Amino acid sequence: EIYQREYLSNGEMKQWNGQVHEVYSPICIKTENGLERKLIGSYPVCTEDEAQASLEAAVQAYDNGRGEWPIMSVEERIHHVEKFTGKMIEQKDIIVKLIMWEIGKSFADSTKEFDRTVEYIYATIDSLKHLDRDSSGFEIVDGIAAQIRRSPLGVVLCMGPFNYPLNETFTTLIPALIMGNTILFKPPKFGTLLHYPLQEAFRDCFPKGVVNVIYGRGNAIVPGLMQSGKINVLTLIGSSKVANELKKQHPKVNRLRAVLGLDAKNAAIVTAHADIPLAVKETITGSLSFNGQRCTALKIVLVHRSIADEFIKQFNAAVGQLKFGMPWEKGVSLTPLPEPNKIDYLNECIADAEKFGAKIMNENGGTSLASFFYPAVVYPVNDQMKLYHEEQFGPIIPIVPFDDLEETIDFLIASTHGQQVSIFSNNAQEVSWLIDPLVNLVSRVNINTQSQRGPDAFPFTGRKDSAEGTLSIPDAIRSFSIRSLVAFKMN
Ligand code: G3H
Repeated sequence: EIYQREYLSNGEMKQWNGQVHEVYSPICIKTENGLERKLIGSYPVCTEDEAQASLEAAVQAYDNGRGEWPIMSVEERIHHVEKFTGKMIEQKDIIVKLIMWEIGKSFADSTKEFDRTVEYIYATIDSLKHLDRDSSGFEIVDGIAAQIRRSPLGVVLCMGPFNYPLNETFTTLIPALIMGNTILFKPPKFGTLLHYPLQEAFRDCFPKGVVNVIYGRGNAIVPGLMQSGKINVLTLIGSSKVANELKKQHPKVNRLRAVLGLDAKNAAIVTAHADIPLAVKETITGSLSFNGQRCTALKIVLVHRSIADEFIKQFNAAVGQLKFGMPWEKGVSLTPLPEPNKIDYLNECIADAEKFGAKIMNENGGTSLASFFYPAVVYPVNDQMKLYHEEQFGPIIPIVPFDDLEETIDFLIASTHGQQVSIFSNNAQEVSWLIDPLVNLVSRVNINTQSQRGPDAFPFTGRKDSAEGTLSIPDAIRSFSIRSLVAFKMN
C-alpha cells in the first residue's frame, strides 16, 4: 500500500497537504457488504496552480534551448538515463506488484511489462548511437556544407495509458527525455502509484526541473497547461476524443507537435480459405490478452459466412479453456477489470447488439462477478450496432459474417480507425489481392497472425483517428526531435 503525499517538481519532492485521490484495486476482498475493491493507496490531487508551477519548472529547465539538459551532449544524456534505469531496476519488485494490484494485470504480464520497458530503454540508447552517427558529420551540397544535428523541441507534456502504465508511458517519456526535451509527466488515472517509487530516481538522475511529475484530475489541470501555450509537444496514449479536445486548447496549435497513440478497431478477416484452428488460436490471444484492454487488440472478427459456424464453435471452445483468476495465479489469462464503470459499458454494448438481432454465442458469455467479466462472443454483428463501430476495449468479441471480400475492404474504408488488420487465409492470391488496399487504409497488415505493437523495433502508428506521429525504436527518437543544420558556404 502506498499513501503518497509528495510530487516531484523543480527537482524537489513537494509535500502535499491537500485533497488526495484514493486508489482502489480491481482485486476485490470479502467485506460485510460483499465483494469490494481493496483500498491500496492514495495520491495527491494537484491544483491548477501546482501544475502550472511544475510546467514553469520544465520551461525554466529548457530555457529556450539554453538549459543544461538541452545543451548537454547526447552521450552525457545517455549516461543520466542509464543511471536512472539502474535505479529503476532496483525497484522492480515493488513496481511489478503495483502494476498487478492497480490494473489487475497478471503477475507474469506485469513482469513482462517491466522487463520490456528496460529492454526498450537500452534499445533506444543503442539505436540513438547509430542514428547519431548517421546524422552527424558534414554533408556538402552545391557548395554549402552542413552539420546535421538532432535537436530537442522544448517542453513535452507526457500522458500514458492505464493498460501499460509503465511501458507505454516510457515509450514516449524516455525518447523525449533523451533527445534533450524537458518533461511534465502526468501518470495515468489507473496505474498511478507505481510511478511513485520512480520519482526519487528522476530527482537524483536528472538536473532540476528536467522531469516533473504531477498527479490529479486530468480534466481539471491539463486544459490550463495547454492554454498556457508553453507546451511544445503533447504526447498521449489514450482516446482520440481527449487528444482532440486538448489540442484545441493550445493557443497556437500549429506550433504544437502531437505524438499520439489513440483508439483502434482492429479487424481480423477470416476468409473461406483460412486455417480455422490457426485463426482461432491467433484471434483468441489477439482479442483477449489482458482482457482485450490493448489498443492493438483485435476488436472485431469478419468471418466468411461459409465457415462462420465452425469458426464460432472452435472459438467458443478455446474461450472455455482460458483460465479466470487472480493476477498472481499461474497460467491465468482473464483477470479483474480496473475501470469501475467498464462492466456497465460492456453490458450496454451487448444489450444494444441484442436489440438489433445479435446473440451471445458462448456459455456464460457476458456474465460478471465483482470486477470480473466473462468474455462474450456476439454474433451476427452488423453496422447498426455499437459493437460494429466503437472500440469496446474489453472482453467482447463481435463477429460479422461476410459473403464477398470487398465487404471487408468497405468495413475498413468506413471505419474512423486505421491501426491494424489481420488476414487469415491460406490462399496466396486472395491475400495478395487484399494487401495493397488494406495497407493504404491501416498502418499494419498482419498475415495469419494477430495484431500487436511489437517487436518494438517496428514502427508503431496508425491512420485516421488511431494515431499521430510514430512511436517505437528508432521512430520515437525522430518524433521527439528535429533535424537542424549548421550550414556554411565553402569557398
Ligand atoms: O494498448 C496498446 C499497446 O500498444 C499494446 O501493445 O500489442 O504490445 O500489447 P501490445
